[in-house]
Amino acid sequence: MQRIFSGIQPSGIPQLGNYLGAIRNWVNLQADHECVFCLVDMHAITVWQDPAKLRSQTLTQAAILLASGIDAEKHILFNQSAVSAHARLAWIFNCVTRLGWLNRMTQFKDKAGKDRENHSSGLYVYPNLMAADILAYKATRVPVGEDQKQHLELTNDIAQKFNHDYGLEFFPTVEALIPPAAARVMSLRDGTKKMSKSDPSAQSRIEMTDDADTIALKIRRAKTDTDVLPADEAGLEGRPEAKNLVTIYAALADTSIADVLSQHEGQGFGPFKQALTDVVVNTIAPIAQETTRLMQDENHLVKTLRSGAARAQAIAEPIVSEVEKIVGF
Ligand code: ADP
Ligand code: NA
Repeated sequence: MQRIFSGIQPSGIPQLGNYLGAIRNWVNLQADHECVFCLVDMHAITVWQDPAKLRSQTLTQAAILLASGIDAEKHILFNQSAVSAHARLAWIFNCVTRLGWLNRMTQFKDKAGKDRENHSSGLYVYPNLMAADILAYKATRVPVGEDQKQHLELTNDIAQKFNHDYGLEFFPTVEALIPPAAARVMSLRDGTKKMSKSDPSAQSRIEMTDDADTIALKIRRAKTDTDVLPADEAGLEGRPEAKNLVTIYAALADTSIADVLSQHEGQGFGPFKQALTDVVVNTIAPIAQETTRLMQDENHLVKTLRSGAARAQAIAEPIVSEVEKIVGF
C-alpha cells in the first residue's frame, strides 16, 4: 500500500477550496492508502499567528477533518510541531536546496509581493520544510491542489540531490495527486486570485463552519458579470468569476462543467446562484454541524492528536535518525 502525506495549515478556518482541492480527496484516498494527515502549525507561523488563536484553530481544524470523514484511528492525524523529525530533516534540507531553486518558487513571490525584505526567512524556506514533511515518512504520494505542484517538484529535486550527494537511493520519488475537478477554486471577490483562508476578506471564501444564511449571502455577493450562462465551456472564456461558480457547482454536484451548462444554459446568475447555494449548503451544513458537536469535547480532540503524533513519530523517527547518520551526525 502506498503511503500518503498531506498537510493543511491551521492558519484559519478551512475554506471551500481546501475542501474541494484537498480534504474531499483525502477522505476518498483512505480506502486504499496508508495516510498521514498533518496540521502544519510550523508552516502557519511563517506569517504572524496569534498564539491562542493558533492553538484553538488547530483543534477546530482537527474537528473539521474528522467531521469531513477523516478516520484518525485507521490513519494518522496530528500536528506537525509535535514530531521533532520535521524540523530536524528540514534543517538538513536547508543545506541541500540551492538558493536558485527557492528563488523560482512562485508562491513566495505571490505571498511576499514587492515587500520581500519584510517577510520571515521561514516563509522563504517553507518548501524545504514541506519536503521534510513528506520525506520524513518516505511518502510516495501527496494529494495537493494545483497551487502546490511546484513545491512537489522541488521536493523531488531535493530528494534526488540528497541521494546523489550521499551516493544512495535513500528517498523515493514523490507523485502529486491533483484532483481533476476544481483543482483551483478562485476567490468569490476576484476570479484571478485563489480562494484562501488567509485572504483578509472573509467575503472572498466560504468557510467550512459557515451557516446556510452566511453561505447564501456570500454567494449572492460573489462577483459575476451580467451575461447569462453559456451553452458550452468556450462561452466561459474571459469570464473568470462566472467560470469559477460553474466549476464549484460541478465539483460539488460531482458532474462535469458541460453538464452543469447544459442544465442551466441561458439562466442569469441570480437564479444560478440560488441553485449553487443549495449544493454548497448540502455539502457544508452536515460537516459544520458535526464540527460543532466534536468541538464540545476538546479533551477528546487533544487526545486524538496526541495519539496521532505518537504513531507519526514511530514512522518518522527511524527514517530521520538514519538521515542524520548518513550526513555524519
Ligand atoms: P490556504 O491557502 O487556504 O491557507 P493551505 O496552504 O493550507 O491553504 O492548503 C491546504 C490544501 O488545500 C493544499 O493541498 C492546497 O493545495 C489546497 N488548496 C488551498 N487553496 C485551494 C484552492 N483555492 N483551490 C484548490 N485547492 C486549494
Ligand atoms: Na496557505
